[in-house]
Formats: sequence, C-alpha cells, structure tokens
Amino acid sequence: MDLPRLQAAILIISDTAFRDPSTDKAGDILSDIIAIDGNDQWESTKRDIVPDDVFAIQRTVSQYCDGEDYVNLLITTGGTGFAVKDNTPEAVAPLIHRHAPGLVHGMLQASLEVTPFALMSRPVAGVRNKTLIVTLPGSPKGAKENLQAILRLMPHACQQAAGGDSRKLHSGGIEKLEEDAGVRSNKRQKHHHDDHVHSHDHTHDHGAHVVPKAHTRPEDRPISNDPRAGPTSRYRESPYPMLSVEEAVSLVLAKSPAPEAIHVPVNGSLVGHFLAEDVEANDPVPAYRASIVDGYAVIVSETGLSTKGVFPVASVSHAAPGEISTLQRGQIARITTGAPLPPGANAVVMVEDTVLRSMTDDGQEEKVVEILTDQVKADENIREVGSDIKAGEVVLRKGDEITAVGGELGLLASIGKAEVMVYRKPVIGVLSTGDEIVMHDRARPLQLGEVRDCNRPTLMAAIKGWGFQVVDYGIAKDKPGSLEEHLRNALRNVDVIVTSGGVSMGELDLLKPTLERSLGGTIHFGRVNMKPGKPTTFATVPLKTSDGNPATKLVFSLPGNPASALVTSHLFVLPSLQHSSGKQGRHGLPRMKVQLEEDVRCDPKRPEYHRVSLTYGFNGLLHATSTGGQRSSKVMSLRRANGLLCLPVKEWTAPKGEIVDALLMGGV
Ligand SMILES: *[C@@H]1O[C@H](CO)[C@@H](O)[C@H](O)[C@H]1NC(C)=O
Ligand SMILES: *[C@@H]1O[C@H](CO)[C@@H](O)[C@H](O)[C@H]1NC(C)=O
Repeated sequence: MDLPRLQAAILIISDTAFRDPSTDKAGDILSDIIAIDGNDQWESTKRDIVPDDVFAIQRTVSQYCDGEDYVNLLITTGGTGFAVKDNTPEAVAPLIHRHAPGLVHGMLQASLEVTPFALMSRPVAGVRNKTLIVTLPGSPKGAKENLQAILRLMPHACQQAAGGDSRKLHSGGIEKLEEDAGVRSNKRQKHHHDDHVHSHDHTHDHGAHVVPKAHTRPEDRPISNDPRAGPTSRYRESPYPMLSVEEAVSLVLAKSPAPEAIHVPVNGSLVGHFLAEDVEANDPVPAYRASIVDGYAVIVSETGLSTKGVFPVASVSHAAPGEISTLQRGQIARITTGAPLPPGANAVVMVEDTVLRSMTDDGQEEKVVEILTDQVKADENIREVGSDIKAGEVVLRKGDEITAVGGELGLLASIGKAEVMVYRKPVIGVLSTGDEIVMHDRARPLQLGEVRDCNRPTLMAAIKGWGFQVVDYGIAKDKPGSLEEHLRNALRNVDVIVTSGGVSMGELDLLKPTLERSLGGTIHFGRVNMKPGKPTTFATVPLKTSDGNPATKLVFSLPGNPASALVTSHLFVLPSLQHSSGKQGRHGLPRMKVQLEEDVRCDPKRPEYHRVSLTYGFNGLLHATSTGGQRSSKVMSLRRANGLLCLPVKEWTAPKGEIVDALLMGGV
C-alpha cells in the first residue's frame, strides 16, 4: 500500500534539557528509531524542548496539534514518572480529545517484559484534533522500548486520526494492515480479526469513560509567550488578570524586600536615609556650663555677699578651649555668649549691668570694671551641662528620616555621633528596550522608524530626584540574548531594575518570557486598570548574592510610551523604593485636593492619571492646569507636569473650579 509520508514531532520535556539541549539523549535516539524502524513512512521529525511546566507543555502540544500544519504523531519524552516535577500526563491528558488506552497498555506491556519498573511510568496516549499524541518516559532506554512497541501501528492510527477513509484503509482486513505495518501477532486467532478492527473504530464512545477536561483554554492561562514561537502564536490579548492600581501597589509592597540595616558614617550622604535604630546622645549638650549672655563671670558667695563694686578683669574667656584659668575670689572674667564658664565662677553678670572703669596700658583689654547690681544670684545666666540634651537621651527614633533640611544631621553631629545605623537604600538600574530605540545624543539623524530614547533619561532623573542611586544600563535590543544579557548584568549589580518598552500587546514582548523562562523570575502582574500605563508589569527574580545569600531583585517593566513610563514609575516604583528604604507610614506621592482651572473629561472605563501643572492660587488652593493632550505617547504633556489628577471612572466632565484629588510629583 502506497501511503503518503507522515509528519512526526518529538517533544523533549525536561528542565535540564531546556537549559542545556546538549544534555538530551532521548531526542536523537527517538529520531533514529523513526527513521530506521519507521518503514520509510515518516518525514524527518521536528523536535522541540520544553521545561517540566504544565503550561509550557500544553502550549507546545497545542501548537503541534491545532491549526493547518499539524503533525500526525506527537511523541513526548520525559515527565511521566512519579517525581513532583513530573507533569507530562497532567499536562497532556486534558488536551486529548479521544484517549487511546490500548497504546498505553501496549507500551507498558512491552517495557514490563524488560523490567518491572515499567509500571513506574504513567503514559497517556490519544488523539487531539488530527494528531496522535503518545507520552514516552524520559529515560532513553525506556522511551526506545515504548516507541518500538507501537511505532509500526502508528501510520495506520495516524491516517485514521487525520480522517483517512477507514473503509479503504481496512479493505485488506487485519492481515493486510499487519503486513503494511510490518507486524504480525502470534496470538491472534483468525476469526477475531474483523471484530477487532471494527471495535477499534468505535473505541471513542463518549459514555465509556470520563475524560478529564480543563475548563480554561491553555492560551488563556497566564504565562508569557514563547519567544521562539512565531508572531501568529502570540497572544492577541494579554493573558494577565487586570489589577486595580491599589491591588498592584499592595502586591508591589508585599513583594519588595524588607529594609536592611547598615552602619554608615554620619556625613552628608546620610540625607534621605531612614534611621534603623533609636539614637542616644553620647555627650550632654552643652557639654560644659556656658554663659547665655555677654558679660562677666563672677563668684556669687553662698553667704549672699554682694557682687556690687569695682573688680579687676582677670581673664578674657575667649581663650582656646582647655586653657581657661580658675577665677579667684575678688576677680571677674569677661565672657561671651556660649563661652564656657571659667572654673570657680558661678554666675554671669550681663554687660548692660556694668561700666568699664579702665583699660590696660596698651589700650587693648579691659582692666577694671564696675558691677552696678547686687541682685545677681548663683547660677544666673548660665546654661547647665545637658540642659539641652542629657547624656543617654534618645534624640532620634528608629524610622526618623535624615532630611535634606539638615536638622537631623546637625543634631547627630552635635551629640557626637560618628556612625549610625540606617536602612540601606536600594540601587536602581534603568534600561530601555526595543530595536527602534536609539541614544538621544547619537550624532546621525534618525532613520525611518527610529525613536530617540527619552524614557531612560526621564526615569533616571525621576529616581535620582527621589534620592536614589541610579545606574544606566543603556538600550537592550529585541533579541532574547541581548535582553537577557542586559538584565543579568543589571541583576548582579542593582536591587531594582526599571525597564521601559516591550510590554504592550502589540510589541514583541520579550521581557516576560525572558524574566520567566531565562531568569526564573515570577511575574506578579502584567496589567493594571489605569490610564495611561495598562501594560505595567512587575516581577521578582530570586538570586544568590556573591556571598551566597539568597536575594530577591525586583523588575518593573514599564510601558514604552513616555507618559505611561513616567506615571507608572511614580505610582509603582516609588512606593517600593520607599518601603525598602525603611520609610514608615504612607508610601507613594503625597495626595491632596486641587482645584481645576479648566474642564477635564474623565475616562468612563479606567481611572485616569492626568498630567497637570499645579500652581498656588490666590485662594490658597493648588490650581491644576492640564499639560495638554494626554495620549500616553504625548511627550509634550510631560513638560511642566508636577502633578497627576486622579480622575474617577465616570462618564463625566469635571468642570472648571471642581475640587479633585491629585498626586504631587514635584515641587510647586
Ligand atoms: C483543535 O482543537 C482545539 C481544542 O478543542 C480547537 O479549538 C481547534 O479549533 C482545533 N483545531 C483544528 C484545526 O481542528
Ligand atoms: C560619607 O562617608 C562615606 C563612607 O566613608 C563616603 O563614601 C561618602 O563619600 C561620604 N559622603 C560625604 C558627603 O562626605
């Protein structure tokens, strides 16, 4: 019988082989069997490798079975054992439209003749659309035995599955079939033949047994596109569930690493950090008894002897610290505000209560001064040791910010802190993605389709403005290798990566697959119900640091549109960075009420963050003026935007004068 050649594919299911295809042995062996034992009935076999992942398996199986260029036979190898990661039967069984337990039986029986361990395999077999699927074990030996047990029967089964004319196929009876297949059974009794063939035709009686069936289509389940698949097999619609902005922010905060305390020297670099400890004063402030007025240090007798009278001026207390001589009874010493009281003195008389009587011969210093009052009491006009801050007193609390206003830094300095514990601030790497993106300062003029990279400079400026260190990772091309290399490089060196571009449905979305498949990351969300910024994506990637400790790195993949990137960085990246730097209380941009300077249309479907310029109005309110066309690609709308109106989801035009909520992005 002259049968047309059939198309087979081998799907290797193995995490190890997926990472390193050279480790796979089964693929070559199975191809050889098909070529050698296949009776010349098979085209050269296609081959593919997927990890032990139900969704990945299902997607690839569907690709081979659904659509015009289906294969006749799809053989999988691997993942049929009892190990936890062995998922193949669970992945494949729900995809099978018509099960073929006979093939399963045959394979098991063949292997069982070799080893009782054959029973440790859990194969499934059956037909999906027009493709026969058979799952073989992962061991090359087991796979080989199983395939050899059934291969001769496959052309016939595949023909029928593909809708071949069964009467014609069976016209020679079972003997003819066996002959075509090159098999002959010893056990078979002649008079059973036709019955056998007949029942064989009717084994897919729906009432016979319940086939497990998934209720969602695999392509509806959230996992990133396979970058190796062509554009037609990519999702037309994002498979990620739509989160509200609040849900997305909560998720970001929940996944952001806890703040990490570090010891740092007290200097200007502390600004913007949050304290990780209560800070106690080492030394009292002031550290010595000091005058609070300009005047004369005196000795007020406990017996109430008057200070009134004429006194020689013994010393001038602007001497270098440590060199102040003791005041003797009957002397006074000139003293300036804040200067230390000379030893022996116990009060200060204000200069206003005195008269200069005579100068030294050189006319440079006071010699004799008359004190006009006898009302001065002991300790008068003296600031006591520790009257401002006592030694051991807590002056700053854990969680307090060292602000750029400077007061906290000054306080730390005044109590003699050389080092404090603060929370480390995350370091952020920024990169842009896309083949069309070019450096903004490239000398050559733009070619058709090229776009200057404005997101990287914008995002770097914003992040720096929030007070974080930023590292520039340039532009990654839309090639799996380029993107992965950029990301790996950044992951090694920074805590958080912010990318822009390559997450919208229309774009070649390499980011999600690279994060998930190549870097072992988890995508926590890929869609947010907001305008602009819907495709905003957030992922975590587990890593080991150079000292072997586990660490979690965050990746924010923002949309490529400039307005979307700016808005979503403020809404999602900022709170995460604040959280990881130990900021307490509310995270994110400050929210306030502002008054509209013009009518503003709301979006009836998505909460909109409308870029506005906020200015102080005469009525004491902040006034909001739209920065213009709000389409997410509009670069002009970024100019002078220091606020975001939070517009409700409503079929409504908020009128001029209306008070609405706004987020403050920058200074007013
Ligand atoms: C194959 O089966 C799937 C799932 O039942 C179905 O959606 C698809 O249209 C079928 N394709 C063909 C070519 O029969
Ligand atoms: C603060 O001290 C650290 C560590 O010695 C140093 O790296 C940094 O440059 C200093 N910053 C300033 C502003 O002096």
